[in-house]
Amino acid sequence: MPHGLFITLEGLDGSGKTTQIKRLAAWLKMRGTSGSGPAPRAEHDSAFNAWEGAELVVTRQPGGTATGDRIRELLLDSRSTGLAPMTEMALMFADRAQAIGEVIQPALEAGKIVLCDRFTDSTEAYQGGGRQLGSQTVLELHRLLCGNLQPDLTLLLLPSIEASLERARRRNQAVEARTGKDENRFEQEQEAFFRRVDEKYREIAAREPQRVVLIEGDLYIGEVHEKIVQAVTSCLQRQAVGANN
Ligand code: TYD
Repeated sequence: MPHGLFITLEGLDGSGKTTQIKRLAAWLKMRGTSGSGPAPRAEHDSAFNAWEGAELVVTRQPGGTATGDRIRELLLDSRSTGLAPMTEMALMFADRAQAIGEVIQPALEAGKIVLCDRFTDSTEAYQGGGRQLGSQTVLELHRLLCGNLQPDLTLLLLPSIEASLERARRRNQAVEARTGKDENRFEQEQEAFFRRVDEKYREIAAREPQRVVLIEGDLYIGEVHEKIVQAVTSCLQRQAVGANN
């Protein structure tokens, strides 16, 4: 079965994932993965040749499908009061199972590159860590509901918790003022919740160093992008070598 490339971005709210995913998508397009733009740099030839012309799919969780967008609204709206942690986790997985079936799996089977803003590491960090449901339940549900699909590469952005949350709050206020959409439910959590999320993310990175590249500290957008480019290039090289063996 042909297999594309599955890259996920993870981090706290306001960690800069959305900006970085846009820059990464633009960079991949420029490198000719979707058939446009200048030729790849010589030192990266072998890595990029294998992916020349590969289409790019950018998606996010929760959301990314019509059903998922409705689940997202329910999950993020601060008027959804009293959601039990297990309900919250089940909804995250309902969204994910739909996204895998409708978007991610078909794209990977067609040999495309999928960039996904959050995946199961978010559930492990937020519901497993933040809500204290533990990793075991999350990983078990991932096996049952998501066929244990694993990203080829996960870029984990962890600037300081304070800087992340401040950015997330400002952004959500601006979104609400512009669109009337309330996506504040998680940002209303106490700092202790986000410390547990941050800790669980670090635990995942330590457990799976092959898959997860941790980019930490309050860096400039360009510096983070450079680190992402290095990680993605190494991943493409590894995949190209794997495909030739
Ligand atoms: P979103 O606006 O997509 O994230 P960001 O602020 O990083 O741009 O909001 C998604 C929220 O949902 C975020 O607070 C994290 C949370 N979440 C979970 O708690 N568990 C999950 O499995 C996922 C995918 C997200």
